[in-house]
Amino acid sequence: MPGFELWSDAERKHLNDVVQSGVLMRYGFDNNRNGHWKAKELETAINGYFGCKYSQLVSSGTAALTTALSALGIGYGDEVIMPSFTFVASFEAVLSVGAVPVMVDVDDTLTLHPEAVKAAITPQTKCVMPVHMCGSMADMEALQAICKAHHLILLEDACQAIGGTYKGKKLGTIGDAGTFSFDYVKTMTCGEGGVVMTNREDVFVSSDGYSDHGHDHKGVDRGADLHPFIGYNFRISELHAAVGLAQVNRLNEFLAIQKKNHTALKNILSQIPEISFRRVPDVEGDSCTFLSWFLPTAEITSAVVEALKAQNILAGNFYWYNNNWHYIRKWDHLKKSITLNALSPELKEKVMYHANKDFSASDAIMSRCISTAISLVWTEEQLKEKGEKIIAVIKKVLSEQAVSA
Ligand SMILES: Cc1ncc(COP(=O)(O)O)c(C=O)c1O
Repeated sequence: MPGFELWSDAERKHLNDVVQSGVLMRYGFDNNRNGHWKAKELETAINGYFGCKYSQLVSSGTAALTTALSALGIGYGDEVIMPSFTFVASFEAVLSVGAVPVMVDVDDTLTLHPEAVKAAITPQTKCVMPVHMCGSMADMEALQAICKAHHLILLEDACQAIGGTYKGKKLGTIGDAGTFSFDYVKTMTCGEGGVVMTNREDVFVSSDGYSDHGHDHKGVDRGADLHPFIGYNFRISELHAAVGLAQVNRLNEFLAIQKKNHTALKNILSQIPEISFRRVPDVEGDSCTFLSWFLPTAEITSAVVEALKAQNILAGNFYWYNNNWHYIRKWDHLKKSITLNALSPELKEKVMYHANKDFSASDAIMSRCISTAISLVWTEEQLKEKGEKIIAVIKKVLSEQAVSA
């Protein structure tokens, strides 16, 4: 997910505009900024590139989720259905607005299993939050149908899928709202940053105010702005927006390299018949940040991971099943509801419910999955060498397992 890999004069130029003027804040100081409005320009560019009516830049992907949830009116007592495989930020945001994260199984798309979503719906369910993990998408048609039938809000966490599409529409612009993260390791980066995208004017107006202490932004004098509701400070700075402005203009270039390298690596790994690949509901729309592949059993996968580690070639290959941050198996802090501030007893109980919930269907997928991050700076030789080293390890493990069987 590597926009930072191709740092260039374009990022330096936009940063210099801000450094020269010294106006680091996105609002106000009109006379001092030499006409530079990097955050506003980036929002316009995002609307154009991703095809949404509105976008609100904020300070991170987590802030974008929190802002979107609040703007969608999700809070106390509301249940938000989300996948067992995501980054912790997805449930952090839900908890931060006082709502209940309800984790359900993923399927071989590595995203929400539509049947698991259906089974988790209760009278308290208000929102379904698919997470387009590792560059590719959830089955949006199925999820849209579920949301429509049950009058639920659809909020896409597209933080890891910048530039991906589903049936021609950009991920993050399909639901009631969608979010990207522009942190340092995403497909395009601001250093730190995020965005809420929506086609709903009400969600945009609320996001705009919520991320800036509730300012209504109707006048030119910030001090005279009204505060129709309570907000917070999730503002992005002009410095961060400047980096993003350069990167959004280079996104096509990044995506093209990602796709090329993804295809080349997939061709190499396809030589092994025991390897299968993640199911992608719309193959054309994969943003190709990762190549995610499965081995036949958890034992073989774990042996391959150990062998890759032993040979010092594990870097860039992610075994999420054992990862502290991305999969429910290791989220003990969530399962024990360890928070610094007290949660309401009902919320605490619902959060702790996850400790004994059955995630065997997710385990069966995640324990066999390895995702290889696609770099933008691999040479053809490096890519080939990487693929062949992985293949050699897998062949060795497979032959050892065959002998011991
Ligand atoms: C799926 C997902 N959601 C949300 C976030 C949060 O983004 P940020 O790091 O910008 O807060 C991330 C970041 O990695 C993510 O991967």
